[in-house]
Amino acid sequence: MPDAPLRPPITRVAVLIPTYNERENLPRVVQRVRDSVPSADVVVLDDNSPDGTGAVADELAAADDQVHVLHRQGKEGLGAAYLAGFRWALDAGYDAVVEMDADGSHRPEDLPAMLEAARDADLVIGSRYVRGGSVVNWPLSRKAISMGGNLYIRAILGMPVNDATAGYRVYRADTLREIGLDQVESAGYVFQTDLTVRTVRAGMRVVEVPITFVEREIGESKMDGDVVKESMRRITGWGVRHRRDQAASLLHRERRWHRL
Ligand code: GDD
Ligand code: MN
Repeated sequence: MPDAPLRPPITRVAVLIPTYNERENLPRVVQRVRDSVPSADVVVLDDNSPDGTGAVADELAAADDQVHVLHRQGKEGLGAAYLAGFRWALDAGYDAVVEMDADGSHRPEDLPAMLEAARDADLVIGSRYVRGGSVVNWPLSRKAISMGGNLYIRAILGMPVNDATAGYRVYRADTLREIGLDQVESAGYVFQTDLTVRTVRAGMRVVEVPITFVEREIGESKMDGDVVKESMRRITGWGVRHRRDQAASLLHRERRWHRL
C-alpha cells in the first residue's frame, strides 16, 4: 500500500495568470482552466495593458465568482506581478498557488496531473526538459536561449532541476511562506529561476512533471534584451556566491580535520 502523503491536503487552489496585452488569449485560457479544474479560482494579474486586457478581465470576473483581477499600475515585470499575486493569495488563505501564462503555452489540461503531484511535493514544475516533456513551435533561436540558460544554471549553481526557468508551476502556500518573498529582487523572467534556487536551497521537495509547451498563436512574447540581461547578471552573481560558499565550507572542514 502506498504511504499516505505527509503534506496537508490541497483544497483551495488559486491559478495566477499574469497579463500584458493578452486581450484575445485571456478569455480562452480562463475558460480552459475553469473546465479543467472547476474548483480552482483564477486570479488575473494585469499590468494596465494598453490593449484593454484589464477590462476584458473585469468582464470575466463579473460573470464568474471564481475569477478575480488584480490591476497593477504599469508594466513592472513578470516577477513583480507574481509577487503581488502571491501575497494576495496567501492573505486570502489558498493552500496552493499555480503560475500559468495567459497565451495558451501552458495547457490548463495538464494542471490536474500537476496538482496530483503536489500532494507530495513543495513545488511542482511543469517541465519541458524531462522525459515526456516537449516544446512545440519554437524557433531554433528561442530553443537555444532556453536550453542554454538551463545548462548554464545547472552548471554554475549545481541544481538538480532540468527546467529551472519554467513558468508553469504549483507552489504550496507553505513553500512560499518558508522561502521568504520579501528578499526577492528579481523583476523579470529570472524570477522563476530565483524561486527555484530558493526552494531547492531550503531543502524542499521539487518534482518535475512533463508538459508540452505550445508556442502562442496570438500576440507576441514579452521576452526582450532586458529580460535576458537581468537573467545573466543575477544567475552569474548567484553562481559566484555559491562557489564562494562551497570553498568556505571546504576550508572549514579542512581546518577541523587538522585540529583532530
Ligand atoms: N503582468 C505582467 N507584467 N505580465 C507579464 C509581463 C509583465 O511585465 N511580462 C510578461 N507577462 C505575461 C504575458 O502576458 C504572458 O501571460 C506571460 O507573462 C508569459 O509571457 P511571454 O512573453 O509569453 O513569455 P514567453 O512565452 O516568452 O516565456 C515563457 O518561457 C519563459 C522561459 O521558460 C514563460 O513561460 C516564462 O514564464 C518562462 O520564464
Ligand atoms: Mn508565451
